[in-house]
Parts: sequence; structure tokens; C-alpha cells
Amino acid sequence: MDIKKVGVVGCGLMGGGIVQVTAQSGYQVVVSEINDALLNKGLWAINSSLSRGVEKGKLSQQDKDATLGRIKGTTTTTDFGDCDLVIEAAVENLELKKKIFADLDKVAPPHAILASNTSGLSIMDMARATSRPEKVLGLHFFNPVPIMKLLEIVRSIATSDDTLETGKQFGKSVGKTIIIARDMPGFIVNRLMVPQLLNAIRMYECGVATREDIDTGLNLGLNHPMGPLTLCDLVGLDTLAFIANGIYEEFKDPQYITPTLLNKMVTAGWLGRKTGKGFYDYK
Ligand SMILES: NC(=O)c1ccc[n+]([C@@H]2O[C@H](COP(=O)([O-])OP(=O)(O)OC[C@H]3O[C@@H](n4cnc5c(N)ncnc54)[C@H](O)[C@@H]3O)[C@@H](O)[C@H]2O)c1
Repeated sequence: MDIKKVGVVGCGLMGGGIVQVTAQSGYQVVVSEINDALLNKGLWAINSSLSRGVEKGKLSQQDKDATLGRIKGTTTTTDFGDCDLVIEAAVENLELKKKIFADLDKVAPPHAILASNTSGLSIMDMARATSRPEKVLGLHFFNPVPIMKLLEIVRSIATSDDTLETGKQFGKSVGKTIIIARDMPGFIVNRLMVPQLLNAIRMYECGVATREDIDTGLNLGLNHPMGPLTLCDLVGLDTLAFIANGIYEEFKDPQYITPTLLNKMVTAGWLGRKTGKGFYDYK
């Protein structure tokens, strides 16, 4: 299928990045948020990210202007009426995602593919909320989307070969390397990564080492580009807790139980970089 126009639900950390790379790749994009303030905040973040690219000489001012010209913001789902692909990037909550998919199913044209950027929730549950389960799949981008090369495509038991193929073509067209996972909690990357992040928090919580030494340990000892506590702050501590809880709900495996310290930090509103405070201060 030929994709010309792409919809994105949610203009937060991930939605904004998906909008940026999709528009930079030449697609028309419409992005929705729950209100004007969040929409403007998300569009402003895309503008800033593109400006940084211009400053670093990665793209021209003309490319930046053309990219922004392909992006339209909205607060209503009816604007997805002529999209060929809609990617949901709202918060990691299955009930909310099911509701969004049911709404999208009503407004998107019958041929449109509906995708979720979920970090690990059930694609089949989202597909079941629509009348087109064969046209639903996971398109799991990584943070920050303009930089990270990977796209994890998630195929449910109902996803058709055509939908998978279109997902792969789309991923390649926005410059990503594709891996394919079955629709199992956490898919490939988060099933492996989340226990490590939670263990790093547990280590810090019980005083095994300082946050800096835990980070330096994995940074230099395992050659990870950043330490686990820095990565937690980048992911967003609320999002990490949502992801871990989502995987735990399915597997009941104790390695996915969120540490008390993580729960307390989320309650305090210390969500990492996006709020200026997490394991480190960013103010
Ligand atoms: N943060 C990461 O590192 C990361 C990486 C890969 C995947 N993900 C997944 O991407 C999704 C989004 O995560 P995020 O980090 O961008 O979260 P975020 O909190 O930064 O952004 C989510 C946005 O969705 C908006 N939203 C909520 N309901 C909506 C609705 N009905 N319509 C339109 N917008 C709505 C919120 O207002 C918010 O701005 C989650 O499913 C998450 O698990 C996150």
C-alpha cells in the first residue's frame, strides 16, 4: 500500500519524534494532542529539535521550513479521516489505547493501517477494539526517535502479511533498521532492558553504590552509551513504571515489580529529564 499521509496520536516525547522523522522523510503528518497547550508544547519541541539540526549543519533552513510545512496539529481525531497510517503514541495504558483504537477505527479510512508505539502492551487487545484487526500492528520506535536507528515491528496473531510488509516499507522509508517481534509483553528490547533498569534502581535504593558509579559501571564496563539511571531519566520514570507494570500484569514475573524508590519518585513528580528532576538534576 502507498502511504502518503500519516497520523500520530500524542505529541509527547515519542509522538513528537515520530512526527519529526516522518515529516522529514517527506510524508504529510497530522498530530493530535488532548488540548492546545500540550499540542503547542509538542510542536515547539519539534521546532527546537529541527533548529538544533540546522545549527549543527545536519539540515538546511529550507529543509526545516519544508518539514514544518508538512506537519499539522489538531485536538480532534476527525482530522485523521484521510490518513493511510495512524501511529498511536499516547501514554502506556492499555485501556486508554483501546479507546483510542476504537475511535481511530471510526474515523480512519477503511484501508488505513493503525499502529501503536507501545513499549510492550498487547497489540491484539488494541486490534480487538477495531473492526480491522488484520490492519493493526506495533511500530515501536526508540528514544530519541530522530537519533535511534531501530524500529521494532510487532506482529499480532491477526496482523496480515500485507500490513507487516507495509509497516516494514514505512520503517525503511523513515531510515530505520527493522526487527520483528511476536506480540508478547515487552517484545524483544524492553523484555531484556526493563529488568536491568529496575535492578539498577534497586542497587541504588539499597546503597550498593552511588548513582554515578552504577552508571559508570555499565557505561565503561559494558560499553553502554549511557548508564542505566541516566537512561531511566531519559525514558521518563512514569513511562518506565507503566512499561514494567504492563509486563508484570501479563507474566507475573517478580523481576518486573517496580522498586519502591521508583514508585515514590513517580508520586513526587520526579519523572526524569522531562520534569527537570529524576535520579539527576537537569534544571
Ligand atoms: N519514553 C520512551 O523512552 C519510550 C520509548 C519507546 C516507546 N515509548 C512508548 O511511547 C508511548 C508514549 O510515551 P512518551 O514517552 O512519548 O510519553 P509522554 O508522556 O511524553 O507523551 C504522551 C502524550 O500523549 C498524550 N495523550 C494522551 N492521551 C491522548 C489522546 N487520547 N489523544 C492524543 N494525545 C494523547 C499526552 O498528553 C502526552 O503528551 C508509550 O506507549 C510509551 O510506552 C516510550
